[in-house]
Amino acid sequence: MTSKAHTLLLFGATGDLSQRMLLPSLCALHTDELIAEDLRIVGTARSPMTDLEFRNFARDALEKYMPAERRGHMADFLGRLSYQQLDVTSPEGYEELAAKVDAGEDLAIFLSTAPSLFKPTIEGLQKAGLAGEGARISLEKPLGSDLASSCAINDAVAAAFPERRIFRIDHYLGKETVQNLLALRFANLLFEPLWRSQYIDHVQITVAETVGLESRVDFYDDAGALRDMVQNHMLQLLALVAMEPPGSFDADAVRDEKVKVLRALRPVSAEESVTGQYRGGASSGAIVPGYDEELGRDSNTETFVALKAHVDNWRWRGVPFYLRTGKRLHKRVTEILVQFRQVPHSIFPDARMKANQLLIGIQPEENISMTLMAKVPGLEEEGMTLRSVPLDIAMPDAFTGKHKRIAYERLLLDLINGDQTLFVRRDEVEAQWRWVDAIRATWAKEGVTPKTYNAGSWGPSAAIALAERDGVSWHE
Ligand code: BG6
Repeated sequence: MTSKAHTLLLFGATGDLSQRMLLPSLCALHTDELIAEDLRIVGTARSPMTDLEFRNFARDALEKYMPAERRGHMADFLGRLSYQQLDVTSPEGYEELAAKVDAGEDLAIFLSTAPSLFKPTIEGLQKAGLAGEGARISLEKPLGSDLASSCAINDAVAAAFPERRIFRIDHYLGKETVQNLLALRFANLLFEPLWRSQYIDHVQITVAETVGLESRVDFYDDAGALRDMVQNHMLQLLALVAMEPPGSFDADAVRDEKVKVLRALRPVSAEESVTGQYRGGASSGAIVPGYDEELGRDSNTETFVALKAHVDNWRWRGVPFYLRTGKRLHKRVTEILVQFRQVPHSIFPDARMKANQLLIGIQPEENISMTLMAKVPGLEEEGMTLRSVPLDIAMPDAFTGKHKRIAYERLLLDLINGDQTLFVRRDEVEAQWRWVDAIRATWAKEGVTPKTYNAGSWGPSAAIALAERDGVSWHE
């Protein structure tokens, strides 16, 4: 699918994601002249609103969520917007919506609504003739809560749209440094020959957050950290680290390789997983309540998970992938650490050798850092004194004059342009769920329940022990 959309239909246009991310991203694309002048954006939601009221609503959102220096072309951008009130579960309204879109026009549809509304929305779109050849549809997570419910969503979408016109969002794939992982691995000769069990000891993937429940109390309590973060974002990061080189940067070539990794994930045992739930503590300089207090009731939902994962194939035989994610942790950081093995033979018997590490910082800092052993300058000592020193690339310094972009800018642009490379294919989502469902079944069978940890810490001590048992320390 390569044609560019002329109209973007935004379902859930008055929702939180739309205000915080989608409208600001679209305005940024407009400001940078990355979308065609004639692209129109039609918002829909249940509230009655005129076009003018929707534009005012969007202006408020942009003023709240977009940096002032990026709002220079806001008035022009608002001119692209119109609105259609629609209760997606009732048949009325779709005809009016269709009347706002020229027949045969290439359409991009973005569903930023509850997944329970996907099916009726898709049926309504199809009846109104809005699911034709030129239409593509994008879905936001959560795409189900297990394999069965995910398949039900996928089936409902597939009834109206073929896979090549379905764009499943994992917003981590829109992050610059995540894409940079592909550049690092496949545009440099340096890493690929070493990127295997012979030279890599283990990999760590950390997605730590300082926020707590925020406003999504019921959703989060039903989901928990495994389904909210590991099933999607962390497995996508793992797949990008572990995949074989694709034949090209074509959407299916990349996704074919990712899905092989996801299918090669070994089931995780109870001993290889630790779950946690935060209690009150000091986080980011403030005293914050515990999860139960925030929730207003007792709960067994995990707000932290650490796993030791294995990819069962030739390349990764015997290389653990340690994953950890949690809310109310010590600091907000998403990073991937690739720990290389020691040199096979040291000619510096007195030196304290440290094996090379490659650290890929995804957020908040976007950087790539390698540690190397180097000689400490000086003549004082006999022989050689060596120390591990970092070789750092801070992305903003390497590319000055570039705006920091949010993930949705990339993803909305690709949706409009019809490029699926950074979207998740059905077989990937299902492989992710299959693995996660098995972990949940193991937890239920073995009675794995969350251990408490203090807000502002790095999670339960059992998570530290999980790595330390193997002589590994989490990167901090
Ligand atoms: C979402 C999760 O998918 O990702 C949230 O539902 C989480 O719980 C968020 O806070 C993290 O995204 P980011 O881009 O801030 O790391």
